[in-house]
Amino acid sequence: MVATAAECFSEYPAVPQTVVMPAVAGTVLVTGGAGFIGSHTVLELLNLNREVVVVDNLVNAAQGVVKPASLERVERLTGKAVTFYSLDVLDKPALAKVFKQHEISTVIHFAALKAVGESVEKPLAYYRNNVNGTIALLDVMEECGCKSLIFSSSATVYGSPQSLPVDETHPTGVAITNPYGRTKFVIEEILKDLCVADKEFSAVLLRYFNPVGAHASGDIGEDPNGPPNNLMPYVSQVAVGRRPKLQVFGGDYDTPDGTGVRDYLHVVDLAKGHLAALPKSAEPGCHIYNLGTGSGFSVLQVIEAFKKASGRDIPYEVVARRAGDVASLYADSSKAERELGWRAELTLDDMCASAWRWQSRNKYGFSAPPAEGDTNGRA
Ligand code: NAD
Ligand code: UD1
Repeated sequence: MVATAAECFSEYPAVPQTVVMPAVAGTVLVTGGAGFIGSHTVLELLNLNREVVVVDNLVNAAQGVVKPASLERVERLTGKAVTFYSLDVLDKPALAKVFKQHEISTVIHFAALKAVGESVEKPLAYYRNNVNGTIALLDVMEECGCKSLIFSSSATVYGSPQSLPVDETHPTGVAITNPYGRTKFVIEEILKDLCVADKEFSAVLLRYFNPVGAHASGDIGEDPNGPPNNLMPYVSQVAVGRRPKLQVFGGDYDTPDGTGVRDYLHVVDLAKGHLAALPKSAEPGCHIYNLGTGSGFSVLQVIEAFKKASGRDIPYEVVARRAGDVASLYADSSKAERELGWRAELTLDDMCASAWRWQSRNKYGFSAPPAEGDTNGRA
């Protein structure tokens, strides 16, 4: 099915009676489900035979023939239809109509703007979209009696880590270097307050470390708008010939080879982390989990692993540190293993191999190659 909510519904919904839906069964609403992590999670939910409804305003996802390109591919891969609404989570009447149309038991909330540098230039756009968007969603959930939310948080809430590996008891909100990161922290605080005020509400805060890689098919993957901000998509665009070389930000960190160390996590493992969190989202209260592998890899190690996976050279130069970067960050994810039964299983080699499969089969992501003379995105 594809339709905008406005086309689908001719009238505003009556406010339904507040009924708390069981969170384990029932339909899962995925906001931002056409994006990188969302599309992989939708695919895993469909493989589990869950009913899924996606809302996305396509601010960072490519349109396909009749619905977002990523979801058209998910449909092909799973053989199942995805119910999709093109809408902004800030549009409360349209969102309420979706809740009226479907018995939503749980929301997985990915919808957000995520470019760190852009958030420094346009802080209001980030607070409006990410924070106000979440509040709008929570208002509609309250109105419609849905009390279960899984939220895409980020390791960025830890700021500059005081000790490694970082577990969930580490202080948050201190020394966060950009507005994007602060939106994640603020939303976490809102959700904690909500769980105190409403004893029936369940919020699962998943703090992702560095999600990378792609589905094993190579048919869905990360498709950044413009030059990638993050390491792995940049490396893969160099490997495929869209960009001449990588800049390595800083070679003088206090790490084994001087380059930054991060906890890279395969997006399919991450998607499965959301499935593992579903039962928890039926338990009232605020539940917080790190999702990472627990292992740190340096920029140079990632370059080497990608070279091996792709068989391509990855030219690079070491340049100055990027403002706001920390030397090392990796997770203690043992709480997720203990309480959710989830553990990352895929290796850095798996991440690079799948990212390369996606990138080499889809040089320009979900888009057609740029027109003659248009050098955007090309080396
Ligand atoms: P993405 O940009 O690929 O996906 C986000 C989706 O949300 C996009 O399809 C976009 O069109 C949609 N969207 C944005 N604002 C919206 C709005 N107001 N209404 C409806 N749809 C909207 O990003 P992603 O990498 O898949 O990230 C998903 C979530 O995970 C985000 O909340 C992000 O902040 C968080 N996160 C991502 C990373 C990462 O490295 N990718 C790390 C930590 C946390
Ligand atoms: C960044 C964001 C973080 C966000 C996360 C996921 C910053 C300061 N942090 O995390 O808030 O949650 O992305 O979107 O932007 N690197 C290079 N060259 C590049 C790109 C990256 O050397 O072209 C290095 C970085 O310096 C870092 C490592 O690669 O050491 C990983 O960078 P990146 O993929 O951007 O992730 P984070 O910095 O961890």
